[in-house]
Amino acid sequence: MTDQDYINLINGSYLIAAVLFIVGLMLLRTPATARTGNRLSALAMLIAAGVTLVDRNILEFEFIIGGVLLGAVIGVVLARTVQMTAMPQMVAIFNAFGGGASALLAGSEFIRLADRGDVPEDAGATIMLGTAIGAITLTGSLVAAGKLTGWVTQNPIVFPLRNVVSGLLGVVIIAIGVFLVFEPINNEIMFAVLVGVALLLGVLLVTPIGGADMPVVVALFNSYSGLAGAAAGFALDNNILIIAGALVGASGLILTRIMTRAMNRSLVNVMFGGFGASGVEVSGVDGEVRPYSSVQAQDAAMMLGYANSVIFVPGYGLAVAQAQHELRTLADLLQARGVEVKYAIHPVAGRMPGHMNVLLAEADVPYDQLYDLDQINRDFDQTDVAVVVGANDVVNPAARDREGSPIYGMPILNVDHAQSVIVLKRSMASGFAGIDNDLFYLDRTSMLFGDAKSSVGSLVSEIEDL
Ligand code: TAP
Repeated sequence: MTDQDYINLINGSYLIAAVLFIVGLMLLRTPATARTGNRLSALAMLIAAGVTLVDRNILEFEFIIGGVLLGAVIGVVLARTVQMTAMPQMVAIFNAFGGGASALLAGSEFIRLADRGDVPEDAGATIMLGTAIGAITLTGSLVAAGKLTGWVTQNPIVFPLRNVVSGLLGVVIIAIGVFLVFEPINNEIMFAVLVGVALLLGVLLVTPIGGADMPVVVALFNSYSGLAGAAAGFALDNNILIIAGALVGASGLILTRIMTRAMNRSLVNVMFGGFGASGVEVSGVDGEVRPYSSVQAQDAAMMLGYANSVIFVPGYGLAVAQAQHELRTLADLLQARGVEVKYAIHPVAGRMPGHMNVLLAEADVPYDQLYDLDQINRDFDQTDVAVVVGANDVVNPAARDREGSPIYGMPILNVDHAQSVIVLKRSMASGFAGIDNDLFYLDRTSMLFGDAKSSVGSLVSEIEDL
Protein backbone atom coordinates (compact mmCIF):
# COMPACT_ATOMS: atom_id res chain seq x y z
CA MET A 1 0.00 0.00 0.00
CA THR A 2 1.42 3.43 -0.96
CA ASP A 3 1.56 6.25 1.58
CA GLN A 4 -1.25 7.99 -0.29
CA ASP A 5 -3.44 4.86 -0.16
CA TYR A 6 -2.81 4.65 3.58
CA ILE A 7 -3.77 8.30 4.12
CA ASN A 8 -6.91 7.76 2.02
CA LEU A 9 -7.80 4.70 4.10
CA ILE A 10 -7.45 6.62 7.36
CA ASN A 11 -9.42 9.62 6.09
CA GLY A 12 -12.06 7.31 4.57
CA SER A 13 -12.50 5.63 7.97
CA TYR A 14 -12.84 9.03 9.64
CA LEU A 15 -15.43 10.04 7.04
CA ILE A 16 -17.46 6.88 7.73
CA ALA A 17 -17.23 7.60 11.48
CA ALA A 18 -18.36 11.21 10.94
CA VAL A 19 -21.38 10.10 8.85
CA LEU A 20 -22.28 7.49 11.50
CA PHE A 21 -22.08 10.17 14.24
CA ILE A 22 -24.45 12.44 12.32
CA VAL A 23 -26.93 9.69 11.40
CA GLY A 24 -26.75 8.41 15.01
CA LEU A 25 -27.60 11.88 16.33
CA MET A 26 -30.54 12.19 13.91
CA LEU A 27 -31.93 8.83 15.06
CA LEU A 28 -31.75 9.97 18.69
CA ARG A 29 -34.63 12.37 17.98
CA THR A 30 -37.40 9.84 18.59
CA PRO A 31 -37.62 7.02 21.14
CA ALA A 32 -38.45 4.52 18.38
CA THR A 33 -35.03 4.89 16.72
CA ALA A 34 -32.93 6.13 19.66
CA ARG A 35 -31.40 2.73 20.46
CA THR A 36 -30.18 2.30 16.89
CA GLY A 37 -28.83 5.87 16.96
CA ASN A 38 -26.92 5.11 20.14
CA ARG A 39 -25.40 1.95 18.65
CA LEU A 40 -24.37 3.72 15.43
CA SER A 41 -22.70 6.52 17.42
CA ALA A 42 -20.88 3.97 19.59
CA LEU A 43 -19.68 2.17 16.45
CA ALA A 44 -18.49 5.52 15.06
CA MET A 45 -16.53 6.16 18.27
CA LEU A 46 -14.98 2.68 18.08
CA ILE A 47 -13.87 3.28 14.48
CA ALA A 48 -12.58 6.79 15.27
CA ALA A 49 -10.62 5.79 18.37
CA GLY A 50 -9.34 2.51 16.89
CA VAL A 51 -8.13 4.10 13.64
CA THR A 52 -6.39 6.93 15.53
CA LEU A 53 -4.61 4.54 17.88
CA VAL A 54 -3.38 2.39 14.99
CA ASP A 55 -2.55 5.33 12.72
CA ARG A 56 -0.48 7.21 15.27
CA ASN A 57 1.20 4.04 16.60
CA ILE A 58 -0.04 4.94 20.06
CA LEU A 59 -0.84 1.44 21.28
CA GLU A 60 -0.06 -2.15 20.28
CA PHE A 61 -2.97 -4.06 18.80
CA GLU A 62 -3.32 -6.31 21.87
CA PHE A 63 -3.81 -3.28 24.12
CA ILE A 64 -6.52 -1.91 21.83
CA ILE A 65 -8.40 -5.23 21.90
CA GLY A 66 -7.88 -5.38 25.68
CA GLY A 67 -9.25 -1.83 26.04
CA VAL A 68 -12.31 -2.63 23.91
CA LEU A 69 -13.05 -5.74 25.98
CA LEU A 70 -12.55 -3.96 29.30
CA GLY A 71 -14.72 -1.04 28.15
CA ALA A 72 -17.41 -3.44 26.95
CA VAL A 73 -17.50 -5.22 30.31
CA ILE A 74 -17.72 -1.92 32.24
CA GLY A 75 -20.42 -0.68 29.82
CA VAL A 76 -22.54 -3.83 30.17
CA VAL A 77 -22.28 -3.81 33.97
CA LEU A 78 -23.22 -0.11 34.18
CA ALA A 79 -26.07 -0.45 31.67
CA ARG A 80 -27.51 -3.35 33.68
CA THR A 81 -27.04 -1.91 37.16
CA VAL A 82 -27.47 1.88 36.98
CA GLN A 83 -31.05 2.87 37.82
CA MET A 84 -32.94 5.01 35.32
CA THR A 85 -33.28 7.75 37.95
CA ALA A 86 -29.47 7.78 38.31
CA MET A 87 -28.88 8.54 34.60
CA PRO A 88 -28.25 12.28 35.06
CA GLN A 89 -25.32 11.63 37.43
CA MET A 90 -24.00 8.94 35.10
CA VAL A 91 -24.02 11.43 32.21
CA ALA A 92 -22.33 13.99 34.49
CA ILE A 93 -19.53 11.50 35.18
CA PHE A 94 -19.19 10.79 31.43
CA ASN A 95 -18.87 14.53 30.83
CA ALA A 96 -16.24 14.79 33.57
CA PHE A 97 -14.23 12.01 31.91
CA GLY A 98 -14.66 13.64 28.48
CA GLY A 99 -13.50 17.03 29.76
CA GLY A 100 -10.62 15.48 31.72
CA ALA A 101 -9.50 13.44 28.71
CA SER A 102 -9.48 16.55 26.49
CA ALA A 103 -7.48 18.50 29.08
CA LEU A 104 -4.96 15.63 29.34
CA LEU A 105 -4.66 15.39 25.56
CA ALA A 106 -4.13 19.12 25.16
CA GLY A 107 -1.73 19.22 28.13
CA SER A 108 0.40 16.34 26.86
CA GLU A 109 0.59 17.97 23.43
CA PHE A 110 1.73 21.19 25.11
CA ILE A 111 4.48 19.38 27.02
CA ARG A 112 5.57 17.47 23.89
CA LEU A 113 5.78 20.61 21.74
CA ALA A 114 7.41 22.69 24.52
CA ASP A 115 10.04 19.95 25.00
CA ARG A 116 10.75 20.12 21.29
CA GLY A 117 11.20 23.88 21.75
CA ASP A 118 8.52 24.90 19.28
CA VAL A 119 4.85 25.50 20.11
CA PRO A 120 3.24 27.22 17.10
CA GLU A 121 0.88 29.98 18.21
CA ASP A 122 -2.24 28.48 16.62
CA ALA A 123 -1.59 25.12 18.27
CA GLY A 124 -0.83 26.94 21.55
CA ALA A 125 -4.16 28.79 21.44
CA THR A 126 -6.22 25.61 20.90
CA ILE A 127 -4.17 23.79 23.56
CA MET A 128 -5.00 26.50 26.12
CA LEU A 129 -8.69 26.42 25.18
CA GLY A 130 -8.89 22.62 25.32
CA THR A 131 -7.06 22.50 28.65
CA ALA A 132 -9.06 25.26 30.34
CA ILE A 133 -12.51 24.13 29.14
CA GLY A 134 -11.64 20.47 29.79
CA ALA A 135 -10.45 21.18 33.36
CA ILE A 136 -13.53 23.33 34.15
CA THR A 137 -15.75 20.57 32.76
CA LEU A 138 -13.95 17.90 34.82
CA THR A 139 -14.47 19.45 38.26
CA GLY A 140 -17.78 21.15 37.42
CA SER A 141 -19.27 17.85 36.25
CA LEU A 142 -17.90 15.96 39.26
CA VAL A 143 -19.56 18.47 41.61
CA ALA A 144 -22.78 18.17 39.55
CA ALA A 145 -22.64 14.36 39.86
CA GLY A 146 -21.95 14.73 43.60
CA LYS A 147 -25.00 16.96 44.03
CA LEU A 148 -27.19 14.57 42.07
CA THR A 149 -26.10 11.57 44.12
CA GLY A 150 -26.30 13.52 47.37
CA TRP A 151 -22.55 13.17 48.14
CA VAL A 152 -22.30 16.95 47.94
CA THR A 153 -24.99 19.08 49.58
CA GLN A 154 -27.80 19.83 47.14
CA ASN A 155 -28.32 23.26 48.63
CA PRO A 156 -26.66 26.15 46.83
CA ILE A 157 -23.38 27.03 48.56
CA VAL A 158 -23.27 30.77 48.26
CA PHE A 159 -20.77 33.30 49.56
CA PRO A 160 -20.53 37.05 49.03
CA LEU A 161 -18.97 38.24 45.77
CA ARG A 162 -18.90 34.69 44.40
CA ASN A 163 -19.68 35.85 40.87
CA VAL A 164 -16.90 38.44 41.10
CA VAL A 165 -14.44 35.78 42.31
CA SER A 166 -15.46 33.44 39.48
CA GLY A 167 -15.14 36.33 36.99
CA LEU A 168 -11.63 37.11 38.30
CA LEU A 169 -10.58 33.47 37.99
CA GLY A 170 -11.85 33.53 34.40
CA VAL A 171 -9.73 36.61 33.71
CA VAL A 172 -6.66 34.92 35.27
CA ILE A 173 -7.17 31.87 33.03
CA ILE A 174 -7.42 34.04 29.91
CA ALA A 175 -4.36 36.08 30.91
CA ILE A 176 -2.18 33.02 31.59
CA GLY A 177 -3.47 31.34 28.42
CA VAL A 178 -2.58 34.35 26.25
CA PHE A 179 0.85 34.62 27.94
CA LEU A 180 1.57 30.93 27.28
CA VAL A 181 0.59 31.19 23.62
CA PHE A 182 3.40 33.71 23.14
CA GLU A 183 5.85 32.41 25.80
CA PRO A 184 5.35 28.65 25.86
CA ILE A 185 8.92 27.52 26.49
CA ASN A 186 10.13 26.79 30.05
CA ASN A 187 6.81 27.91 31.50
CA GLU A 188 5.40 24.58 32.61
CA ILE A 189 4.68 26.02 36.07
CA MET A 190 2.44 28.70 34.60
CA PHE A 191 0.68 25.97 32.64
CA ALA A 192 0.14 24.03 35.88
CA VAL A 193 -1.29 27.21 37.47
CA LEU A 194 -3.71 27.59 34.54
CA VAL A 195 -4.87 23.99 35.04
CA GLY A 196 -5.26 24.52 38.81
CA VAL A 197 -7.26 27.75 38.42
CA ALA A 198 -9.52 26.14 35.78
CA LEU A 199 -10.17 23.15 38.11
CA LEU A 200 -11.08 25.57 40.92
CA LEU A 201 -13.35 27.60 38.64
CA GLY A 202 -15.26 24.42 37.68
CA VAL A 203 -16.01 23.81 41.37
CA LEU A 204 -16.99 27.44 42.06
CA LEU A 205 -19.31 27.60 39.06
CA VAL A 206 -21.42 24.65 40.19
CA THR A 207 -21.46 24.78 44.01
CA PRO A 208 -23.84 27.83 44.12
CA ILE A 209 -26.43 26.06 41.94
CA GLY A 210 -29.25 24.09 43.62
CA GLY A 211 -29.26 20.29 43.20
CA ALA A 212 -32.52 20.25 41.26
CA ASP A 213 -31.08 22.50 38.54
CA MET A 214 -28.24 20.04 37.94
CA PRO A 215 -29.76 18.46 34.80
CA VAL A 216 -29.45 21.81 32.99
CA VAL A 217 -25.89 22.16 34.27
CA VAL A 218 -25.13 18.62 33.08
CA ALA A 219 -26.43 19.46 29.59
CA LEU A 220 -24.29 22.60 29.55
CA PHE A 221 -21.18 20.69 30.61
CA ASN A 222 -21.98 18.13 27.95
CA SER A 223 -21.61 20.97 25.48
CA TYR A 224 -18.37 22.11 27.16
CA SER A 225 -16.89 18.61 26.98
CA GLY A 226 -17.56 18.66 23.23
CA LEU A 227 -15.93 22.07 22.84
CA ALA A 228 -12.90 20.89 24.83
CA GLY A 229 -12.69 17.82 22.58
CA ALA A 230 -12.92 19.97 19.43
CA ALA A 231 -10.17 22.28 20.74
CA ALA A 232 -7.97 19.25 21.54
CA GLY A 233 -8.73 18.00 18.00
CA PHE A 234 -7.37 21.24 16.54
CA ALA A 235 -4.29 21.02 18.78
CA LEU A 236 -3.61 17.44 17.66
CA ASP A 237 -4.69 18.09 14.07
CA ASN A 238 -7.22 15.25 14.31
CA ASN A 239 -10.27 15.78 12.09
CA ILE A 240 -12.61 13.25 13.68
CA LEU A 241 -12.02 14.70 17.14
CA ILE A 242 -12.88 18.14 15.78
CA ILE A 243 -16.06 16.82 14.12
CA ALA A 244 -17.21 14.73 17.10
CA GLY A 245 -16.38 17.55 19.53
CA ALA A 246 -18.32 20.09 17.45
CA LEU A 247 -21.35 17.77 17.25
CA VAL A 248 -21.36 17.21 21.00
CA GLY A 249 -20.76 20.92 21.66
CA ALA A 250 -23.65 21.99 19.41
CA SER A 251 -26.12 19.31 20.51
CA GLY A 252 -25.37 19.96 24.20
CA LEU A 253 -26.05 23.65 23.67
CA ILE A 254 -29.31 22.97 21.80
CA LEU A 255 -30.42 20.61 24.58
CA THR A 256 -29.59 23.22 27.23
CA ARG A 257 -31.64 25.75 25.27
CA ILE A 258 -34.62 23.38 24.94
CA MET A 259 -34.55 22.68 28.69
CA THR A 260 -34.28 26.28 29.81
CA ARG A 261 -36.99 27.35 27.36
CA ALA A 262 -39.38 24.62 28.53
CA MET A 263 -38.73 25.74 32.14
CA ASN A 264 -39.17 29.37 31.11
CA ARG A 265 -35.78 30.23 32.58
CA SER A 266 -32.72 31.87 31.11
CA LEU A 267 -29.37 30.13 31.29
CA VAL A 268 -28.04 33.06 33.31
CA ASN A 269 -30.88 32.54 35.79
CA VAL A 270 -30.02 28.84 36.14
CA MET A 271 -26.28 29.47 36.54
CA PHE A 272 -26.46 32.48 38.84
CA GLY A 273 -30.08 32.63 40.05
CA GLY A 274 -30.06 30.29 43.08
CA PHE A 275 -33.46 28.80 42.11
CA GLY A 276 -34.19 25.10 42.34
CA ALA A 277 -32.58 24.48 45.69
CA SER A 278 -33.90 21.24 47.09
CA GLY A 279 -36.07 21.28 50.16
CA VAL A 280 -37.78 24.53 49.23
CA GLU A 281 -40.88 25.23 51.27
CA VAL A 282 -44.33 25.00 49.77
CA SER A 283 -45.31 28.56 49.19
CA GLY A 284 -49.05 28.59 49.47
CA VAL A 285 -50.88 31.22 47.48
CA ASP A 286 -51.02 34.22 49.81
CA GLY A 287 -50.64 31.77 52.71
CA GLU A 288 -54.33 30.79 52.52
CA VAL A 289 -55.49 27.26 53.36
CA ARG A 290 -57.64 25.99 50.51
CA PRO A 291 -60.04 23.02 50.45
CA TYR A 292 -59.43 20.08 48.13
CA SER A 293 -61.19 16.76 47.51
CA SER A 294 -59.56 13.41 47.92
CA VAL A 295 -60.81 10.16 46.44
CA GLN A 296 -60.35 6.44 47.12
CA ALA A 297 -59.08 4.01 44.47
CA GLN A 298 -62.52 2.41 44.15
CA ASP A 299 -64.24 5.66 43.12
CA ALA A 300 -61.35 6.72 40.90
CA ALA A 301 -61.54 3.32 39.17
CA MET A 302 -65.27 3.87 38.46
CA MET A 303 -64.49 7.23 36.85
CA LEU A 304 -61.81 5.66 34.67
CA GLY A 305 -63.59 2.42 33.84
CA TYR A 306 -66.68 4.21 32.53
CA ALA A 307 -64.90 7.03 30.70
CA ASN A 308 -64.69 7.33 26.93
CA SER A 309 -61.28 8.98 26.88
CA VAL A 310 -58.42 9.16 29.36
CA ILE A 311 -55.12 11.03 29.15
CA PHE A 312 -52.30 9.98 31.47
CA VAL A 313 -49.88 12.75 32.43
CA PRO A 314 -46.70 11.27 33.90
CA GLY A 315 -44.20 13.32 35.91
CA TYR A 316 -41.23 12.98 38.21
CA GLY A 317 -43.24 10.98 40.78
CA LEU A 318 -43.74 8.20 38.19
CA ALA A 319 -39.95 7.86 38.03
CA VAL A 320 -39.58 7.92 41.82
CA ALA A 321 -42.29 5.30 42.27
CA GLN A 322 -41.16 3.26 39.24
CA ALA A 323 -44.83 2.81 38.43
CA GLN A 324 -44.46 2.62 34.64
CA HIS A 325 -45.26 -1.10 34.34
CA GLU A 326 -48.39 -0.79 36.51
CA LEU A 327 -49.44 2.25 34.46
CA ARG A 328 -49.11 0.28 31.26
CA THR A 329 -51.24 -2.51 32.76
CA LEU A 330 -53.88 0.03 33.77
CA ALA A 331 -53.88 1.53 30.27
CA ASP A 332 -54.23 -1.94 28.71
CA LEU A 333 -57.18 -2.73 30.96
CA LEU A 334 -58.90 0.52 30.07
CA GLN A 335 -58.32 -0.01 26.36
CA ALA A 336 -59.75 -3.51 26.65
CA ARG A 337 -62.89 -1.83 28.00
CA GLY A 338 -63.01 0.45 24.94
CA VAL A 339 -61.57 3.56 26.60
CA GLU A 340 -59.37 5.73 24.37
CA VAL A 341 -55.99 6.14 26.13
CA LYS A 342 -53.24 8.66 25.42
CA TYR A 343 -50.14 9.79 27.29
CA ALA A 344 -49.22 13.51 27.39
CA ILE A 345 -45.48 14.15 27.59
CA HIS A 346 -44.20 17.52 28.77
CA PRO A 347 -40.64 18.28 27.56
CA VAL A 348 -39.31 18.84 31.10
CA ALA A 349 -41.46 16.38 33.04
CA GLY A 350 -39.16 14.45 35.37
CA ARG A 351 -35.57 15.44 35.88
CA MET A 352 -33.84 14.78 32.59
CA PRO A 353 -34.64 15.25 28.92
CA GLY A 354 -36.77 12.42 27.60
CA HIS A 355 -37.22 11.05 31.15
CA MET A 356 -40.88 10.07 30.63
CA ASN A 357 -40.25 8.64 27.16
CA VAL A 358 -37.52 6.40 28.54
CA LEU A 359 -39.66 5.22 31.46
CA LEU A 360 -42.67 4.46 29.29
CA ALA A 361 -40.49 2.78 26.67
CA GLU A 362 -39.21 0.52 29.46
CA ALA A 363 -42.82 -0.62 29.96
CA ASP A 364 -43.25 -1.06 26.17
CA VAL A 365 -45.93 1.61 25.92
CA PRO A 366 -46.59 1.96 22.15
CA TYR A 367 -44.91 5.13 20.82
CA ASP A 368 -48.04 6.13 18.94
CA GLN A 369 -49.85 6.64 22.27
CA LEU A 370 -47.29 9.26 23.38
CA TYR A 371 -48.13 12.85 22.51
CA ASP A 372 -45.99 15.96 22.90
CA LEU A 373 -47.35 19.08 24.55
CA ASP A 374 -48.18 20.81 21.25
CA GLN A 375 -49.91 17.72 19.85
CA ILE A 376 -52.15 17.01 22.82
CA ASN A 377 -52.94 20.27 24.56
CA ARG A 378 -56.15 20.87 22.61
CA ASP A 379 -57.38 17.30 23.31
CA PHE A 380 -57.85 17.92 27.03
CA ASP A 381 -61.04 19.93 26.28
CA GLN A 382 -62.67 16.76 24.90
CA THR A 383 -61.23 14.35 27.45
CA ASP A 384 -63.30 12.73 30.20
CA VAL A 385 -60.54 12.08 32.72
CA ALA A 386 -56.97 13.35 32.92
CA VAL A 387 -54.85 11.26 35.30
CA VAL A 388 -51.80 13.06 36.66
CA VAL A 389 -49.26 10.47 37.83
CA GLY A 390 -46.62 12.16 39.99
CA ALA A 391 -46.53 15.36 37.92
CA ASN A 392 -46.89 18.77 39.50
CA ASP A 393 -45.21 21.86 37.97
CA VAL A 394 -45.85 20.78 34.39
CA VAL A 395 -49.63 20.83 35.03
CA ASN A 396 -49.77 23.94 37.24
CA PRO A 397 -52.23 26.46 35.69
CA ALA A 398 -50.38 29.25 37.54
CA ALA A 399 -47.77 29.06 34.79
CA ARG A 400 -50.49 30.09 32.34
CA ASP A 401 -52.79 32.28 34.43
CA ARG A 402 -50.99 33.74 37.44
CA GLU A 403 -48.71 36.59 36.50
CA GLY A 404 -45.95 36.94 39.06
CA SER A 405 -45.76 33.19 39.74
CA PRO A 406 -42.14 31.95 39.56
CA ILE A 407 -43.17 29.61 36.75
CA TYR A 408 -45.39 32.13 34.89
CA GLY A 409 -44.83 31.71 31.15
CA MET A 410 -43.65 28.10 31.32
CA PRO A 411 -45.67 26.06 28.80
CA ILE A 412 -47.90 23.57 30.65
CA LEU A 413 -50.21 20.68 29.82
CA ASN A 414 -53.79 22.02 30.05
CA VAL A 415 -54.94 19.22 32.33
CA ASP A 416 -57.44 21.54 34.04
CA HIS A 417 -59.42 21.65 30.77
CA ALA A 418 -60.43 17.98 31.09
CA GLN A 419 -63.92 17.09 32.43
CA SER A 420 -62.37 15.49 35.54
CA VAL A 421 -58.87 15.26 36.89
CA ILE A 422 -57.40 12.60 39.18
CA VAL A 423 -54.02 13.46 40.72
CA LEU A 424 -51.85 10.62 42.06
CA LYS A 425 -49.26 11.81 44.57
CA ARG A 426 -48.38 11.22 48.20
CA SER A 427 -49.32 14.57 49.75
CA MET A 428 -50.12 18.19 48.92
CA ALA A 429 -46.38 18.93 48.78
CA SER A 430 -44.94 21.09 46.02
CA GLY A 431 -42.80 19.86 43.15
CA PHE A 432 -39.47 21.07 41.84
CA ALA A 433 -40.37 24.78 41.70
CA GLY A 434 -41.52 24.75 45.32
CA ILE A 435 -44.90 26.37 44.66
CA ASP A 436 -48.48 25.42 45.33
CA ASN A 437 -50.55 24.02 42.46
CA ASP A 438 -53.93 25.61 41.69
CA LEU A 439 -54.97 22.43 39.85
CA PHE A 440 -55.26 20.46 43.11
CA TYR A 441 -57.99 22.80 44.44
CA LEU A 442 -60.34 22.77 41.45
CA ASP A 443 -63.84 21.31 41.87
CA ARG A 444 -63.18 18.87 39.08
CA THR A 445 -59.96 17.59 40.67
CA SER A 446 -59.76 14.57 43.00
CA MET A 447 -56.54 13.76 44.85
CA LEU A 448 -55.67 10.05 45.11
CA PHE A 449 -53.00 10.03 47.81
CA GLY A 450 -50.27 7.41 48.04
CA ASP A 451 -47.14 6.18 46.32
CA ALA A 452 -47.92 6.13 42.59
CA LYS A 453 -46.99 2.46 42.23
CA SER A 454 -49.41 1.29 44.90
CA SER A 455 -52.13 3.75 43.80
CA VAL A 456 -51.95 2.58 40.19
CA GLY A 457 -51.82 -1.01 41.46
CA SER A 458 -55.04 -0.43 43.45
CA LEU A 459 -56.70 1.11 40.40
CA VAL A 460 -55.75 -1.98 38.38
CA SER A 461 -57.32 -4.33 40.95
CA GLU A 462 -60.45 -2.20 41.22
CA ILE A 463 -60.91 -2.02 37.45
CA GLU A 464 -60.42 -5.78 37.13
CA ASP A 465 -63.34 -6.15 39.54
CA LEU A 466 -65.66 -3.70 37.75
P1 TAP B 1 -42.45 17.98 39.95
O1 TAP B 1 -43.05 19.31 39.73
O2 TAP B 1 -41.07 17.91 40.51
O3 TAP B 1 -43.45 17.16 40.90
C1 TAP B 1 -43.28 15.82 41.13
C2 TAP B 1 -44.34 15.38 42.09
O4 TAP B 1 -44.23 13.97 42.19
C3 TAP B 1 -44.16 15.93 43.48
O5 TAP B 1 -45.05 16.99 43.74
C4 TAP B 1 -44.36 14.74 44.41
O6 TAP B 1 -45.44 14.99 45.30
C5 TAP B 1 -44.72 13.61 43.46
N1 TAP B 1 -44.08 12.36 43.86
C6 TAP B 1 -42.82 12.15 44.23
N2 TAP B 1 -42.62 10.87 44.54
C7 TAP B 1 -43.80 10.24 44.34
C8 TAP B 1 -44.23 8.91 44.47
N3 TAP B 1 -43.42 7.92 44.90
N4 TAP B 1 -45.51 8.61 44.17
C9 TAP B 1 -46.34 9.59 43.76
N5 TAP B 1 -45.99 10.87 43.62
C10 TAP B 1 -44.72 11.19 43.89
O7 TAP B 1 -42.44 17.08 38.63
P2 TAP B 1 -42.90 17.40 37.14
O8 TAP B 1 -44.32 17.85 37.09
O9 TAP B 1 -42.48 16.20 36.35
O10 TAP B 1 -42.06 18.67 36.72
C11 TAP B 1 -40.67 18.60 36.52
C12 TAP B 1 -40.04 19.80 37.17
O11 TAP B 1 -38.62 19.59 37.17
C13 TAP B 1 -40.30 21.10 36.42
O12 TAP B 1 -40.39 22.18 37.31
C14 TAP B 1 -39.04 21.23 35.55
O13 TAP B 1 -38.78 22.56 35.20
C15 TAP B 1 -38.01 20.68 36.51
N6 TAP B 1 -36.80 20.19 35.82
C16 TAP B 1 -36.93 19.34 34.79
C17 TAP B 1 -35.81 18.91 34.13
C18 TAP B 1 -35.97 18.00 32.97
S1 TAP B 1 -34.96 18.07 31.79
N7 TAP B 1 -36.98 17.17 32.92
C19 TAP B 1 -34.56 19.31 34.55
C20 TAP B 1 -34.45 20.15 35.67
C21 TAP B 1 -35.60 20.58 36.30
P3 TAP B 1 -45.53 14.22 46.70
O14 TAP B 1 -44.23 14.47 47.40
O15 TAP B 1 -46.71 14.79 47.38
O16 TAP B 1 -45.69 12.77 46.38
